Amino acid sequence: MTFRIRRIGRSHEADPDSGAARINRESLGLYRRILGYVRPYRRWMVISIIALLFSVALGLILPLVVRNLVDVVLIDNNLQQLNQLAAGLFVVFIVQAIFSFAHRLTLAYVGERAIADIRIRAFSHLQTLSLRFYADRRTGEIVSRLTNDVSLLQEAITSNLVALLRQALTLAGAGVLLFVLNWRLTLVILTGIPIITLIMVALGRRIRGASTIVQDNLAEAASILEESIGGIRIVKSFTREAHEIQRFSQRVNETFAAAMERARIASVLGPFIGFLAFASITITLWFGSYEVIQGRLTAGGLVAYLVYTMLVASPIASLAGLYAQFQSALGAAERLFSLLDTTSDVETRPGALQLPSVSGEVVFNDVSFGYTAELPVLCEVSFRATPGQVVALVGPSGAGKSTLVNLIPRFYDVTKGRVTVDGYDVREVDLTSLRAQIGLVPQETILFSDTVEANIRYGRLDASTAELEAAARAANAHQFIVQDLPQGYQTRVGERGVKLSGGQRQRVAIARALLKDPRILILDEATSSLDSASESLVQQALERLMAGRTSFVIAHRLSTVLNADWILVLDRGRVAEQGAHTQLLQNPGGLYRHLYEMQFAEAREAAGV
Ligand SMILES: Nc1ncnc2c1ncn2[C@@H]1O[C@H](COP(=O)(O)OP(=O)(O)OP(=O)(O)O)[C@@H](O)[C@H]1O
Ligand SMILES: [Mg+2]
Repeated sequence: MTFRIRRIGRSHEADPDSGAARINRESLGLYRRILGYVRPYRRWMVISIIALLFSVALGLILPLVVRNLVDVVLIDNNLQQLNQLAAGLFVVFIVQAIFSFAHRLTLAYVGERAIADIRIRAFSHLQTLSLRFYADRRTGEIVSRLTNDVSLLQEAITSNLVALLRQALTLAGAGVLLFVLNWRLTLVILTGIPIITLIMVALGRRIRGASTIVQDNLAEAASILEESIGGIRIVKSFTREAHEIQRFSQRVNETFAAAMERARIASVLGPFIGFLAFASITITLWFGSYEVIQGRLTAGGLVAYLVYTMLVASPIASLAGLYAQFQSALGAAERLFSLLDTTSDVETRPGALQLPSVSGEVVFNDVSFGYTAELPVLCEVSFRATPGQVVALVGPSGAGKSTLVNLIPRFYDVTKGRVTVDGYDVREVDLTSLRAQIGLVPQETILFSDTVEANIRYGRLDASTAELEAAARAANAHQFIVQDLPQGYQTRVGERGVKLSGGQRQRVAIARALLKDPRILILDEATSSLDSASESLVQQALERLMAGRTSFVIAHRLSTVLNADWILVLDRGRVAEQGAHTQLLQNPGGLYRHLYEMQFAEAREAAGV
């Protein structure tokens, strides 16, 4: 534990004190940005603040009444006036309760609405981010940002903001009244304010630092949780349960250590500020009585003054706690905003044209690409797929086949050369209009945890049942859906489709892509999990469907490739050969011939020849 606390300490040394001004400026920017989310509801905010003003003002009447009670009623023994005062107070407090209700409700509305907006905004933003972003992040971490960090912010905007505003206004109102009652006494008390402020700012920064560590570790823990649940089969088959528990516990314990650090600072801060506040009451008692003795203050005035001091003291004491929570929330806001500020590296350019309905010509013109600058994956790839052609991509694992087809829907941007569809550079057209015309069955098929029907319908949300079934038939999926699944099309497939077999999953995915009816179809090992019989059925269906659209088929089995119009043989990112099957076979030293002969030998062995 000591190590962890030290770690927290170090992270503070990392941001030097000279940066205080910068940090405050940053905080101001953060406040402004959070308020930006409140702005659309400013009308409610104004109503809320007006209600609050009334509510606080009415609350401040009590000490004045007490002064009257002591100075007038008790001295004159005026029973009738006492009754009037009591009745009046009742009315005042009822009205105050009503204003308080209005204030809380409206402010809660504003806060909850703003948080809902932030959540939706963050989710929408995530949808725009590129695959590169997701390759670099872990799902659990992102989920944690949208849950844990947003919750922290929510706490701050909804409940804390109510309290903070109320305390601040009470403080201001009571402060003014204190001045009116006896300014000399008030000046004595005010000397404490700068001390309190300095302490709060110093400790507040440490709280924020600790809170950041808490949230980071929570995000880390969420990632481990997500991964170990997603990979539960692997965990169990390798009996790594203890290892996973250890990984998770470590993060949770680090969260605990940082949370304790935060709690320690907050625990010191609260009572310390409370002590200062109540010390001021003692001073008031002493100095106020002295003023009464000197004849500068009435007894009732002193009582009223004391009540005001208490009214001031309790907000100051709780302000410290609220301030601590606010600092945590600011940290959360910072992380959330940094997520919102991440821009996608693949975006529709301003002024990009809508890609018109294409015929499906795809041209790679001297295309080079790498996921990182250091490591090229594709080198000077050039080819031309004419509309309606079936292009097969073959080559060893890791050659760059999946990478190549990912460039067509512009999941990544090329580093050199260009990819065009019907003559349009994919970078120059609207992304949505481009992707709307491309159907993709990826190498790792993912289904959503919904029904089979909903998963196929994902291809085209407004498809009719007949169209849906036709797509399922073409993908050779209809039969197993109707015969083997307990609820047919309404069967739920489980998370990522785990309740289906690998081959069934692939066929559902093919149906989904077919329903979209795209001009360009990309099948990345789409039939790899099927037995030969199913594969040839799907193959036949696909051939019918591929007619009239440009298709890219990646397959290791050459039987799938035989019918392609054009074959691209990739080797370590380069096009080693391209041409039709018969043409490529004629090259005796060629890679294609080599692959073909190997498979041919395998097939002969399997047949026992
Ligand atoms: N998101 C990524 N980030 C970084 N490198 C990647 C990424 N995806 C793939 N690579 C690398 O790019 C190279 C080509 O990968 P790719 O997936 O295109 O191969 P492939 O030809 O489809 O292989 P396979 O037949 O095994 O599917 C590999 O060396 C791989 O390590
Ligand atoms: Mg691949």
